[in-house]
Formats: sequence, C-alpha cells, structure tokens
Amino acid sequence: MNAEEMKRAAAARAAELVRDGMRLGLGTGSTARHFVAIVGEKVRAGLKVVCVPTSEATRLQAEAEGIPLTTLDETPALDLTVDGADELDDSLRLIKGGGGALLREKIVAAASRRMVVIADGSKHVDVLGRFPLPIEVNPFGLRATQEAIVQVLARRWPSAPLTLRRGTDGNPYVTDGGHFILDAALQRIDEPEALANDLVAIPGVVEHGLFLGLASGAVIATDGGLVELGQ
Ligand code: A5P
Repeated sequence: MNAEEMKRAAAARAAELVRDGMRLGLGTGSTARHFVAIVGEKVRAGLKVVCVPTSEATRLQAEAEGIPLTTLDETPALDLTVDGADELDDSLRLIKGGGGALLREKIVAAASRRMVVIADGSKHVDVLGRFPLPIEVNPFGLRATQEAIVQVLARRWPSAPLTLRRGTDGNPYVTDGGHFILDAALQRIDEPEALANDLVAIPGVVEHGLFLGLASGAVIATDGGLVELGQ
C-alpha cells in the first residue's frame, strides 16, 4: 500500500464506527480528508448524521460532499470525532497542528465523547517531539510572547529553534481563528504534560499542539495491516 492507500484504509476502518443519528467531529488534513469523503458517500447512501468541521478547509469539503453540518453552539456535545495526527505515541498522546487547525481540532475533540485518530504508520512514535510542536499565539505582542515561550523552553531545550510559520507568500501563516503559529523544534518531549502546563500559562499562547488525554483510540495503517490502539 502507498501512503494514500494507508490513510484511506485507516479512514475506512474508523468510518465503521459511525452510526445513524451520530453527531460527528470532522478532522483536518490529508488523512481526515479520506474520512470526510467516506462519510459523504455514506450520507449520499442514506446515513443520517450531523457534523462539526474542525477547519474552513474541512467545512468546504464537507459542504461539497453534501454532509449536513452543525456548530458546537447548536450541538455542544458530539459522539465521535475522527481526526489525523502529526505524531502519536502508545499512550495516545498526540502532536497536531501541522495543518494549522489545532485550536478548532482541540475544541471539537474536547466536546466529543470519543476521539479516534487515523494515521499511517509513519506517525506512530516511541517519544513525541520529532515533529515540530505548533504553538498558536495571538498576533498582539508576538515578540513578547515568543520570548516568554523561549524562556519556558530553555528549561529543557536551551537552544531549540522557535520559528514563526509562514505561508507560501512569505507572510505569517494566519489560522482560521486569526492567530499566528510558532513551531518549536524540540526533537524529544519526555514530559508532554509538564510542557503543556507551562505553555498554557503564557498569556499570549492561545493553544498548543499537544493533545493529551483527548484521544480514546487510534487506527494506524501499516504495511502489515491495521493496528488499533485504545478503543
Ligand atoms: C491539522 O492541523 C493537523 O492537526 C492534522 O490533523 C495533522 O497535521 C495530520 O495531517 P495529515 O493527515 O495531512 O498528515
């Protein structure tokens, strides 16, 4: 299987969890895209669900698929969210935000009774951190916030690069919420809970890409077949 086939296989397995009447969270990224396409096929075949997209990109895809959409204001509790991840470990701790949608992804995951991660085997790691950690920040006071983050990181990562994410036009990348993203190249995060606590204590930090205690299951597609973690 090539990478796209693996993503599709993981998405198809997660789609088996979807039942009539469910309120679903729809993730963002190239793996979640397969899940949204499969839900679209099921909806056109008669499945009744309402869905909350985790980004404008997913909203556009879901609308094109004819998937009925709702909002967390109308539907504040969801049954199941299926989303990709940039990294996941055996304890279902995740790094997300490579696609820039971490804030809405985390809000939607937290509103869901169950969150299932879909990924190909390259995302499954022993220790989080090889993928740079996205940190979403308010543009106001960017430099002060950046310096506060550097100080927090310096306790464990004295020389970790912290880079302002830019779009293809060279300007700062702007999230759906109107914020910027700083990517922290940490290589290895041995205590993600401690780092998460330190980051949220900085006023200009809106959210970070560590998803801890949110995922209840994962479907990982490998050359040897599907591996499932949690439930
Ligand atoms: C979006 O912000 C991310 O959290 C994605 O869910 C994550 O980057 C996985 O994306 P891919 O499935 O494209 O690798």
